[in-house]
This record gives sequence, C-alpha cells and structure tokens, in this order.
Amino acid sequence: MSQDELKQAVARAAIDYVVDGAIIGVGTGSTANFFIDELGKIKDRIKGAVASSDATAARLKSHGIAVFDLNDVSSILVYIDGADEITAQGAMIKGGGAALTREKIVSSAADKFVCIADGSKLVDTLGKFPLPVEVIPMAQAVVSRKLAALGGEPRLRLKDGRPLLTDNGCVIIDLAGLTIADAVQLETEINQIVGVVTVGLFARRGADIALLGTADGVKKLTF
Ligand code: A5P
Repeated sequence: MSQDELKQAVARAAIDYVVDGAIIGVGTGSTANFFIDELGKIKDRIKGAVASSDATAARLKSHGIAVFDLNDVSSILVYIDGADEITAQGAMIKGGGAALTREKIVSSAADKFVCIADGSKLVDTLGKFPLPVEVIPMAQAVVSRKLAALGGEPRLRLKDGRPLLTDNGCVIIDLAGLTIADAVQLETEINQIVGVVTVGLFARRGADIALLGTADGVKKLTF
C-alpha cells in the first residue's frame, strides 16, 4: 500500500469517531485532507466543523460543510488531525504544515483527540522530525539563540525564498537535531521563551486515540 492509501485508510476509520449532530474539530495536512474528503461524504450527519487553518476551512467549505468560529462553539466532542511523529504514549510533534498554533487551540477545546497517521509516524523518541516553533517575527533572532542553547539547530522556515508566514502572521523556526527524552518538560520550557507563540510538541495534551495505517490494516492505540 502507498503512503497515501494508508492515510486514506485511517481517514476512513476516523469517521467512526464522528458524533452525529456534532461540530467536529478538524486538523491540517495531507492526512487531515483525506479525512475532510471522507467527512464530505457524510456531511448531512454533522452540524459542521471548526477548522485549524485557513486551508482546512477552505477545503471543508468546498465540500459544503459549515465552518464555525471557535468563539461561537461551546463544546467540541472530537478533534481529528494528523501528526509528524507520535510515540506509543500519545505524545506528538506537529506543525509540519505550519498550523500548530490553531491545531493546539482547537484540540485544547476538544474532549477527545484522535490522531490519524500512516504507521511510519510512530517513533520511540520524538525529535527526528525537526520541531516546529511558531514565533513572533520581531523575536525570531533572540528566540533562535535560546532554542540553540537547548541543543538543537534552529532553522527559519522559508517559502519561495522568504520567511514562511503562518495564518497568524508569524514565522516558524524548525529545531533540528533533538532527541526529546522528556516531551512534557521540553514543551513547557519552550513555551516559556518570550516571543514563542506555540511549540509543536503536543505532550501535555497528547492524543487520546491514534489510528495508524499499516500494511496489516488500521491499528488503534488508546492512551
Ligand atoms: C500541520 O501543521 C501538521 O501538524 C500536520 O498535522 C502534520 O504535519 C501531519 O501532516 P501530514 O498529514 O501531511 O503528514
């Protein structure tokens, strides 16, 4: 099976977690896109969705799914999103698609986080995937120095030769070369750096369920 077929399989499996009549929190990225396409097929069963990025909002709308502002929603029963890495304990690195802040906000409002990913995302230790950190643009240099002091190699994420700007008008620093032994502690430490908006470690509030696509079918992990 190709990686896309594995992503499609977990996207389909995630439909089982959609609650009828509810507003669903929806993540960002290629796996989330497959999920949105599946959600489009059952859109009459749900009230709508809260999107974690402008791109996700546009794709939801293209399927005729109502997109709600988080401020107008009092509860989200389930949030469904991909990950760049996930451990067997449910801690994740996210933000490869630069949507980490809104992903963290929407998922923080949800009762349940269902992570959907192809099996290659399951790791023993987080850090091989460079850790995305969203930063206020004027703080880019000072935050980079502080991130380097943690032992990683900070790199400003570029797009078409210019700093990539997130939906929030901020920049992304990817911190390469880390071996993250204590993800909860590192998440707390990086979030304390002035100028950091969000770190792409989802360990303090990790996934509740992971659906991982493998050649032997969709494997479910519960945390
Ligand atoms: C978006 O910012 C990310 O957190 C994605 O959820 C993550 O990068 C996984 O993306 P893919 O589903 O494209 O691998």
